[in-house]
Amino acid sequence: MAGSGEALALHVLLCCLCGGVANIKCSGRVWIEPAPVVRMGSDVSINCLSTLGCPWAKFLVLLNYSLAEGPLRPLNSSTVRLQLRDFRMPFGTVACFARCSDGERHQLVCGTHVLAGYPPDPPGNLTCTIREHSGCLACTWDAGRPTHLSTRYALHLRSVGTAVAEDAEEEEEEEEIFPAGLPVPLSALRGGTRYSAWVQASNVLGAARSPPRRLDLQELVVPALPLVAGAETTETSPPTTTIRWKRQTLLENVRCEERHKAAGAPTWHVRCRLSPADSPWSAWSTPFLYTTPEAAPAAAPDVWRRLGPAFSNGSREVTVLIKPLPPRDARGKILGYTVSAESPRGATLLCNTSSTACSVLVPPGARALQITAHNSRGASSPASITLGRGAGGQEDFPAPEAVEVKPENRSGISVAWQPPRRSGRSPLWFIVEWVSTAQYGQKEQYFWKKVPRQETHTDVQGKILRESFRCLVWFIRTVYSPNMLERQGFV
Ligand SMILES: *[C@@H]1O[C@H](CO)[C@@H](O)[C@H](O)[C@H]1NC(C)=O
Ligand SMILES: *[C@@H]1O[C@H](CO)[C@@H](O)[C@H](O)[C@H]1NC(C)=O
Ligand SMILES: *[C@@H]1O[C@H](CO)[C@@H](O)[C@H](O)[C@H]1NC(C)=O
Ligand SMILES: *[C@@H]1O[C@H](CO)[C@@H](O)[C@H](O)[C@H]1NC(C)=O
Ligand SMILES: *[C@@H]1O[C@H](CO)[C@@H](O)[C@H](O)[C@H]1NC(C)=O
Ligand SMILES: *[C@@H]1O[C@H](CO)[C@@H](O)[C@H](O)[C@H]1NC(C)=O
Repeated sequence: MAGSGEALALHVLLCCLCGGVANIKCSGRVWIEPAPVVRMGSDVSINCLSTLGCPWAKFLVLLNYSLAEGPLRPLNSSTVRLQLRDFRMPFGTVACFARCSDGERHQLVCGTHVLAGYPPDPPGNLTCTIREHSGCLACTWDAGRPTHLSTRYALHLRSVGTAVAEDAEEEEEEEEIFPAGLPVPLSALRGGTRYSAWVQASNVLGAARSPPRRLDLQELVVPALPLVAGAETTETSPPTTTIRWKRQTLLENVRCEERHKAAGAPTWHVRCRLSPADSPWSAWSTPFLYTTPEAAPAAAPDVWRRLGPAFSNGSREVTVLIKPLPPRDARGKILGYTVSAESPRGATLLCNTSSTACSVLVPPGARALQITAHNSRGASSPASITLGRGAGGQEDFPAPEAVEVKPENRSGISVAWQPPRRSGRSPLWFIVEWVSTAQYGQKEQYFWKKVPRQETHTDVQGKILRESFRCLVWFIRTVYSPNMLERQGFV
């Protein structure tokens, strides 16, 4: 076995070998059977014949710089063989060394390479297009499984031209071959506009060709990208939005398609193709952002309340809390919110504010509060907050059960619960409230969140001091009936 200093020398030597440096002196021959390139998973043997001139020398075979595993079987006094089963190294460097019985060091016999790979799959999905104004035919295909070997692809085009040409005997002569992957200048195609095309793949282990495909050069043209010029929306009901775009193509007989996305990422696109059904589409035009004109908010905001003190004259302080509407529902700039009290005597406006919180004094006898959001075009439908009968009287709805609060990770807490089993009717939603308690003279901070009724857990993120917070899960059955709330709280 080679010592470490020697291993380093071998490494340098091998690097020269794999780099293809020519002036290395071999004292013998190394060859691979059955061949230096084999199918992945084949059995191969590495043979090493020494011409050092000493019989029964000690041999050493390195495969990719490490000592190859397995016994070296002597074939005769100057040759050994190493057999490797199921060889799967796409590229391996082989080097053989020998040491005469009276020698101090191993000497290089010679080196070579062994490669394992696959013959090419038949190329699939051959697609050819001509971008308008490019003057070139460009084709793509799926090569299939990687071969791990140097594999050549060639595009074959055979003119199938006119009926006259099909009668011609020299059809074979009209086949033209191009290195596949590079665009083919249309000037190089002299066989008319109609071709049969296929891709031929080949490497040392084999060859395969794609199924042929008929091409009509006139139908392969991808029209130049259209440019979106603008959009406008009518004031009719329902409103109609019209998009305008600029054709950049000089082609006749072009069809275009438009698509758009609303909310979040509202983008407008157009693409075009020639009329024949198989013609390729252009890419989509670059996205265009358009905002429809302002309209009254489409939905009521999410609302909740904190109850303040009740007074002996029957009125009570309530802080109404409002979540801003998402852009999709706001349909414009929200200018403010109104809070009014519903009572048998009619509605009373209690608050008209641009803030998302409003403290109001609810007059005696008020059953519910109604909250709307407005922009310059109008107001949303109202969201309702029911007020229990009497001062604190809202507590006879069953509470959510089995409430569990767990630290989720550094910045969050997970809250889980079960809907009440005793409740006959299904809930509308859940409200989760949490309060970060006062610290270092800071004010107590209050948070809330509406959870859809299908869900029974939620994650609470953000400014939470985990050591000190209270969490309440409210269970809401209906917005319109009183006595609907029950809470479960813990500290
Ligand atoms: C030993 O075997 C190898 C491979 O079969 C052959 O090329 C070589 O001539 C043989 N050498 C002797 C001395 O028989
Ligand atoms: C063997 O060495 C070659 C060249 O350094 C490298 O590309 C190849 O990935 C190696 N193979 C394995 C199986 O380590
Ligand atoms: C051909 O291309 C299409 C779309 O790119 C792909 O869905 C399909 O799997 C491909 N077929 C083959 C045989 O590669
Ligand atoms: C009820 O009492 C509160 C507190 O004293 C007072 O602010 C409020 O104006 C009174 N409301 C009515 C309707 O009398
Ligand atoms: C609320 O105030 C805005 C402007 O401050 C006003 O346009 C709107 O009419 C008011 N709403 C009600 C219900 O009074
Ligand atoms: C904490 O957990 C929440 C939800 O489980 C997740 O969205 C968030 O990315 C997590 N944060 C960290 C810092 O891991």
